[in-house]
Amino acid sequence: MRKVFMTALIFVLLLVSCSYAEEIKIGSCIYRFNDAFMLRFRNAMTTEAEKEGATITHADGQDDQPTQDAQVDEFIQAGVKVLIVNPVNRMDAQPIIDKAKAANIPVVFINREPSIEILNTYDKAYYVGAKAEESGQLSGELIAEYFKSHPEADKNHDGKLQFIMLKGQNGHQDMILRSRYSVEAIRAAGIEPVEVASAIANWDKLEAMKIMNGFVMSIGPENIEAVIANNDEMALGAIEALKIVDYNKGDKDAYVPVVGVDANASALDAMDKGEMLGTVLNDADNQGTAAVKLALALASGKDINSIGYEITDGKYIWVPYQKVTRGEK
Ligand code: BGC
Ligand code: CA
Repeated sequence: MRKVFMTALIFVLLLVSCSYAEEIKIGSCIYRFNDAFMLRFRNAMTTEAEKEGATITHADGQDDQPTQDAQVDEFIQAGVKVLIVNPVNRMDAQPIIDKAKAANIPVVFINREPSIEILNTYDKAYYVGAKAEESGQLSGELIAEYFKSHPEADKNHDGKLQFIMLKGQNGHQDMILRSRYSVEAIRAAGIEPVEVASAIANWDKLEAMKIMNGFVMSIGPENIEAVIANNDEMALGAIEALKIVDYNKGDKDAYVPVVGVDANASALDAMDKGEMLGTVLNDADNQGTAAVKLALALASGKDINSIGYEITDGKYIWVPYQKVTRGEK
């Protein structure tokens, strides 16, 4: 009797010590490694996969769709059980879905949202991300709140807000919707937004710095009442350009409020120094964790409704955004 009990106990102990995801191979395609936000995302996915005893391999798409398509082929040939894909071009996700479907491998898209028409062509295709319009709305609110509580922010005293918009890569849902909804939020707060300049800086700090440098020279920092950047890297690039003309170095009389999105460590740092007004948390940890949990459930046949994240419309996991400020300095 005692022997039977001990055997049963050992069996149960063995069961709980082997994670259900042991041995599962995940192939992860990142649009490019050289992206501060996607680095956070990647690290979160690796941490979660390791926690579950699964193996995750990340491939660098180098911002080139054909390169990424080849990586998808390689992962499938190597026998991965599930794919996580951050498409280079979200509108070109169909061939990726077709390949996954042909191999009967589930695919979880992240960060760059394929259209619902594309997602609907495969019952094992999902998307994990955050609502772009929400981040736009929150960053617009940050600027509106500042403008209302700081009368001196209306530099030309016309009651309107003269702003510069720095946009991410063309066609990205976060580029389109953040740009639109940030301005809408300012208008909804009762302030008339006036775009003095706007440009695409492709999510990139250096590109944003060069562009902003041009704007500072042609427009003059004293005529710029806000910079709205689609992400933190571009916000930081804009701040670099402002610092060249001795703006945003802590002097209240030489300041342009700049907002971004992501809440990357470097942005939080700039906020601590009083160089940057605020940002919106783009929760890479939660998105990365959710993507891996969903991928592992799909690969192992576990109920996807039991992973601790709500599945919306049978296809989506939405992680909320959050405003981040540092208050008065
Ligand atoms: C982030 C950007 C990032 C981009 C990559 C966006 O959600 O805010 O920082 O460059 O995703 O696709
Ligand atoms: Ca004004």
